[in-house]
Amino acid sequence: MIDVAGLDVRYGEFHAVQDVSFRVGRGESFGLVGESGSGKSTVLRAIMGLAPCQAARLEIDGAAVGPVRDTVFCRRVQMVFQDPYGSIHPRHPVDRVLAEPLSIHKLPDAESRILRALKDVGLGPAFRFRFPHQLSGGQRQRVAIARALITEPEVLLLDEPTSALDVSVQSEILNLLDGLRKARGLSYVMVSHNLAVVAHMCSRLAVMNHGRIVEEMTREDLNDGKAAQPYTRELIAASKGYRPAGAAACATA
Ligand SMILES: Nc1ncnc2c1ncn2[C@@H]1O[C@H](COP(=O)(O)OP(=O)(O)OP(=O)(O)O)[C@@H](O)[C@H]1O
Ligand SMILES: [Mg+2]
Repeated sequence: MIDVAGLDVRYGEFHAVQDVSFRVGRGESFGLVGESGSGKSTVLRAIMGLAPCQAARLEIDGAAVGPVRDTVFCRRVQMVFQDPYGSIHPRHPVDRVLAEPLSIHKLPDAESRILRALKDVGLGPAFRFRFPHQLSGGQRQRVAIARALITEPEVLLLDEPTSALDVSVQSEILNLLDGLRKARGLSYVMVSHNLAVVAHMCSRLAVMNHGRIVEEMTREDLNDGKAAQPYTRELIAASKGYRPAGAAACATA
C-alpha cells in the first residue's frame, strides 16, 4: 500500500531524513520509533507533501505520488497529528471541522457522513455542535480522527496520536484506532516514542536515528528484545517502564 524508497529531506544544509525506505502492506500497521529529532515526523510530512523531499520511489497502492499531492491522494492518505488542541480550529464547531473535507472533496450526503463519522469514533450526535473548548483532549482527538476518516481514506499517517493525552485516555484512543484499522483494512504508519505502544499497535517497525533507519524489526523481535543494532538495544533499555511482557498492558492501562 505504501512504498517509500530512498527518501531524503533537506532543510538547507541540514539533512533531516536520509535514504529512508520502507513498505507497508494493505491493512498493516507499521511503526516508526526513535529519539526526538531523529526525523520521524519529517518522514510523515514528506509523504504528505509538507516537507521538501526527494525519493527514488514514493508510491501509494502502486501509483507514483506526484510532486504536488492532488485531491485523489489527499482523499486516500490522511494524517492525524499529535496535538488535537493545535490541529483543530479553536473557533469552529465540530460540524464545520467535519464538513470542510467533505466540501473540499465534493462528497455528497454531508449530514449522514458527519453523523456516521462521529459514531465511528464513539461520539454521539450531540457532539456535532460543540466547540473544541467544550471537549476533553480525548474527545478532540476523536474529532481529529473522525475528520481524517470522513474522506474514507485507505492510509492513515499517525504522528504520536496519543502522546498529548492523559494516560487514562491513551489506551482508549489506541484501541479505537486499532479497531478502525481492522474493520476497514486501513494501512497505518504510526510514529511513537513509546515502544510499548508500538509493540501493541504495529506488526513491524523501523528504528530511526539521525534521519536514517538503522533497523527494521517485527513486533516479535521487539517483544523478545532481539535487536541487531546497539542503538536499538539502547533505545529499548532507555524506554522507561518498557517490559516485553507489559506490551499488552498498555491496552488496558
Ligand atoms: N521546517 C524545518 N526547518 C528546519 N529544520 C527542521 C524543520 N522541521 C524539522 N526540522 C529538523 O529536522 C529534524 C527532525 O525533526 P522531526 O520533527 O522529524 O523529528 P522527530 O523524530 O519527529 O522528533 P520528535 O520525537 O521530537 O517529534 C530535527 O532536527 C528538526 O529540528
Ligand atoms: Mg515528531
